[in-house]
Amino acid sequence: MKTVIELKNFKKSFGSKVVHKDVNFKVYEGECLGLIGGSGSGKSVILRSLIGLEKPDSGSIIIEGEDIAPYNEAQLSQIRKKMAYVFQNGALFDSLTVFDNLAYPLREHFKLSESEIHTKIMYQLKEFGLEGNEYIYPGSLSGGMQKRVGLARSMMMSPRFVLYDEPTAGLDPFNTKRIQDLIIEMKKKGVTSILVTHDMPTAFRVCDRMIILQKGQIVEDDKYIQDFAQGDS
Ligand SMILES: Nc1ncnc2c1ncn2[C@@H]1O[C@H](COP(=O)(O)OP(=O)(O)OP(=O)(O)O)[C@@H](O)[C@H]1O
Ligand SMILES: [Mg+2]
Repeated sequence: MKTVIELKNFKKSFGSKVVHKDVNFKVYEGECLGLIGGSGSGKSVILRSLIGLEKPDSGSIIIEGEDIAPYNEAQLSQIRKKMAYVFQNGALFDSLTVFDNLAYPLREHFKLSESEIHTKIMYQLKEFGLEGNEYIYPGSLSGGMQKRVGLARSMMMSPRFVLYDEPTAGLDPFNTKRIQDLIIEMKKKGVTSILVTHDMPTAFRVCDRMIILQKGQIVEDDKYIQDFAQGDS
């Protein structure tokens, strides 16, 4: 199995509070790795570090062989083209329509004509069951739809890596299943992902493997749950 992401001796404190004592794990190409841990254990900080929104105090963050820990903003911008982050709170722009939310990463990173952008967005809205909502503002969408818009926006750039931060938190069973199905679809397209969640049924259904973050370290690794997951779905 090819390792595509690796955290090595990752250490991070905020003031006197040691959050990551010594975190080590690998992510293999094409898998969905579940990252589980109590509230405040530092899961979101790990995901934010993988796209350079946080810097470790020491240690390496190796993405496809490159240590991105010392990268500057210009270099990180290249990483963010291939690594999408689905934020815990959706992080949609409330003052932009669904269409403009989805257009944002394309306008930011690519030189596309408005008609090309339109075509891509209409396709994406259909894929995520959001057609007809393009000119609505996020504030008027249900929680489930907002999550799907967040997911759709993250996928606009066809990322190779996706970091999901509690994508099913606060959703009803129907919307939870829709999100699970979308994550499984992404995996079929070859996306490698890390899923942070407190929702164990979702973790069992979509993850190939799980690791647990406890007291600043990974306490469990390489526990394959494929059979379990298949039995569960
Ligand atoms: N920018 C920051 N400044 C200070 N402390 C921070 C900062 N970001 C995170 N922390 C602290 O680091 C710890 C880990 O935060 P993190 O958000 O990664 O937890 P989490 O595992 O994602 O929790 P949850 O499951 O509740 O989302 C928390 O104690 C948090 O207060
Ligand atoms: Mg979090």
